[in-house]
Amino acid sequence: MRFFIDSADVSEIRDLAATGLVDGVTTNPSLIAKSGRDFVEVLREICAIVPGPISAEVAATDTPTMLAEGRYLAGIAENVVIKVPLTPDGLKACRVLTDEGTPVNVTLCFSAAQAILAAKAGARYISPFVGRLDDVGADGLGLIAELVEIYSTYPSFTTEVLVASIRHPEHVVEAAKMGAHVATLPPAVLRTMFKHPLTDKGLEAFLADWAKTGQTILKQPVQGTDDAKPARRRA
Ligand code: E4P
Repeated sequence: MRFFIDSADVSEIRDLAATGLVDGVTTNPSLIAKSGRDFVEVLREICAIVPGPISAEVAATDTPTMLAEGRYLAGIAENVVIKVPLTPDGLKACRVLTDEGTPVNVTLCFSAAQAILAAKAGARYISPFVGRLDDVGADGLGLIAELVEIYSTYPSFTTEVLVASIRHPEHVVEAAKMGAHVATLPPAVLRTMFKHPLTDKGLEAFLADWAKTGQTILKQPVQGTDDAKPARRRA
């Protein structure tokens, strides 16, 4: 399963990209608004940080303007993926952009019927919103299971399931069990995935026992780490 970061916060993206776990980024108009920054400037910076697919969403609702916006955004960097809403105009734009060689992420998907249409329109990615479905009492993960099953039934469908609107690590784990191709994670969810109280407790015990041995593995401190600081003070 590939991991995208669902954010337009450049410093968060840079920080998480350094883990080596980030395969791409998704943005949307709400995330751009939250960043308080210029869309194109932010998009350029993100594309330079993460070499994988970076989704940039059009703001228009009619096909001709979606196409003009999509072509402009796609010209910003080679790794831009154009995001269009799952509407008749959005899917028309999806077909044209796809035929021009620009990958498209069809967003705001809430049903299997919609996802079939997106696949037929040639979408590279479909973004089903699990959290927003759960919020209204529907079964977000149930939709992921349906999409994985339907897409795998038809080899001519090359669309990948990009699980979106993720709220917590269990969404990621369950979607991974189903074979979803990609999950786009809010930064806080990715950070939470590292955590387990037994990891913290176990590490604490190992470090305490290691300290009792009085040994060091390296004879010199490594520069640029916290461990190096006491050595620099001593020097
Ligand atoms: C990503 O492409 C979506 O726009 C995003 O995951 C939506 O998440 P939200 O429901 O938390 O806004």
